Amino acid sequence: MSEIRLAPLGRVRARLRVPGDKSISHRALILNAVAEGSAIVTGLAPGLDVRSTASALAALGAGIMSPSNGATRVTGPVAWKARAPVDCGNSGTTARLLLGALAARAQGAVVLDGDPSLRHRPMARVASPLAAMGAEIVAKGEAGRLPLEVRGRALAGASHRLEVASAQVKSALLLAGLAAEGPTVIEEPIPSRDHTERMLRAMGAAIETTSAGQVRLEPGRIESADVAVPGDLSSAAFFLGLAAARGGEVVVEGVGLNPGRTGFLDILGRLGAEVVIDPQEGTTEPQGSVTVRADGLRGIDVRPEEIPRSIDELPLLAVLATRAEGETRVTGAAELRVKESDRIAAIVDGLTAMGADAEALPDGFVVRGPTPLAGADLEARGDHRIAMALAVAASLGSGPSILSGAEWVDVSYPGFFEALAGCAEARVTA
Ligand code: S3P
Repeated sequence: MSEIRLAPLGRVRARLRVPGDKSISHRALILNAVAEGSAIVTGLAPGLDVRSTASALAALGAGIMSPSNGATRVTGPVAWKARAPVDCGNSGTTARLLLGALAARAQGAVVLDGDPSLRHRPMARVASPLAAMGAEIVAKGEAGRLPLEVRGRALAGASHRLEVASAQVKSALLLAGLAAEGPTVIEEPIPSRDHTERMLRAMGAAIETTSAGQVRLEPGRIESADVAVPGDLSSAAFFLGLAAARGGEVVVEGVGLNPGRTGFLDILGRLGAEVVIDPQEGTTEPQGSVTVRADGLRGIDVRPEEIPRSIDELPLLAVLATRAEGETRVTGAAELRVKESDRIAAIVDGLTAMGADAEALPDGFVVRGPTPLAGADLEARGDHRIAMALAVAASLGSGPSILSGAEWVDVSYPGFFEALAGCAEARVTA
């Protein structure tokens, strides 16, 4: 496990771009592997998670080529066949979307597996609704966990009422539904990110979101489509959040602004930061530049209905809340406990070690601020977003911190620490 020493940062001033959006990158590869034809994807996320998707698809027979100009060509037809277990690494999106893609398409038995963290994550939320469509998915170890064996079966479209708002589950059901007999209808308790719906529409699928908020898909073939992946707002959030907490200004250019992902920008505004969005025209996914400036924050309540639009940024919010005047309370976010780590415990423990007044709730957290943050020994717990959120906390500290498990940032953002250090207008000598 690698350790990194993180010195506090002074005011920040930066204009930067961040790596490609992870959610859109997974979908650009998987949907083009399902589609007919060949497509070029540019701006693909460089992290290990998307590499897991690319290598899993290659193991299943897709042609995936990365020429040197940074463009990746995806070519079918895919055999959807693999003798050895297909490794999804640390990536929940890879495992869940591929389960859906394989349910009707697998030739014989295909086993999906992952690293120890992914083996702990819940898969029944995907396997059960797929089984209701006729899928044959068998746990080879613990019930409802990877490794799972899928055998391709004729599927029937179905109406699903999801218990948790999850774009991964929704996407898996849509991928299965494309190859099913009859329509697939999905209703979520709160709408989640709609990257899959947008991309399917661009590929010619008959898909609509009804006025009641249900997603309805007719089965059919889809045509491959080139994708230009925008920057990842979830990665940009760390720098925008740092500007809000430390003061100064950060501009992130070319970042995805899907309304299902922009909850954190609304939250920053409510905390008291100035958030300026400069939209760009053009693609199936909204995108643009975001500028954040701030001078003092105040505590807020984040309600359950806001959670899906900000889920991956909530550990970072806990960090910012230590700089805010008053109490910040997040509820309805029990999903945080089943991410790459138990993110509620991980962030509350890390911030408490730094001297924050932070309390875990079963479905969220409370942070009372402002409290000074001392340098501390911090632990990423095998989770890229915890590593980055704690690195922002360390930047706000009064002395240096040591972060162990620093290498986990490579899951979504290789080069993160260099980019973070580059935001400082001046370094505080500790
Ligand atoms: C993702 C959806 C979210 C998110 C994850 C990526 C996606 O998970 O937390 O980082 O790409 O669909 P859930 O769908 O489980 O909420």
